[in-house]
Amino acid sequence: MIIYKTQKEIELMAESGKILARVLNEIVQNVKPGVNTQDLEDFAEKLIADKGGRPAFKNYKAYPEDKAFPTALCASINDEVVHAPAIPGRILREGDIIGLDLGVEYKGYFSDMAVTIGVGKISVEAQKLLNITKAVLGLGIEQFKEGNTLADIGRAIQFHAEKNGFSVVRELVGHGVGKQVHEDPRVPNYFTEEAKFVPIKRGMTIAIEPMINTGSWEIKLLDDGWTFATADGSLSAQFEHTVALDRNGKKRILTL
Ligand code: MF3
Ligand code: CO
Repeated sequence: MIIYKTQKEIELMAESGKILARVLNEIVQNVKPGVNTQDLEDFAEKLIADKGGRPAFKNYKAYPEDKAFPTALCASINDEVVHAPAIPGRILREGDIIGLDLGVEYKGYFSDMAVTIGVGKISVEAQKLLNITKAVLGLGIEQFKEGNTLADIGRAIQFHAEKNGFSVVRELVGHGVGKQVHEDPRVPNYFTEEAKFVPIKRGMTIAIEPMINTGSWEIKLLDDGWTFATADGSLSAQFEHTVALDRNGKKRILTL
């Protein structure tokens, strides 16, 4: 069931999103060769606490087994698609790309955001992947408007990604956000018939989060039980924003 938010709730989500965007931006400034992902995790936890929020993913019960997610920050490197816990012992190297995914709860409302950046100098292909993935998030957000359905978002993302020779991950999708980090509806980043039946309406708050691979769209779960990686070892990137269509019909990117 989709939960449409009141204007008051959207304002609270905007506060949550603003905290998140600031925190993630500060973490990005600290990404360089030699940094341990645990340092980024510690930094994320400190910054969120300083701003009066709570990390959304740490201890979140995810996946069928209902295990608690171990970290606040997901730091997915190179062929890792999403959900790599930011644990000790992982050192960033020049040329890596790292996806940073973080969620914040503030006054009972969640926001969810991700960026992917290069560590030092990266390859031309990796840079193209980052550019296209960022661009398709923008194209998806452009379609988030009254009169459209979620299928328009998926179509726009898929078309541009595939036109550039990349593929869109299918198994994982965006989602509603609000008093819970994951709510209905599912927000696929590719065209589906089902999504045609989900109109975009005032009060809707969703996370749009395209995951784009340089190779095939298939992914696999790694042995840690959390991290998804591309099945063929190709590079993967993700960008995510939490967006709202407010009660006045105005589109708002909440994680800015
Ligand atoms: N941002 C991720 C998503 O929307 C969730 C974080 S990882 C989790 O799927 F395991 F905690 F869910
Ligand atoms: Co999300």
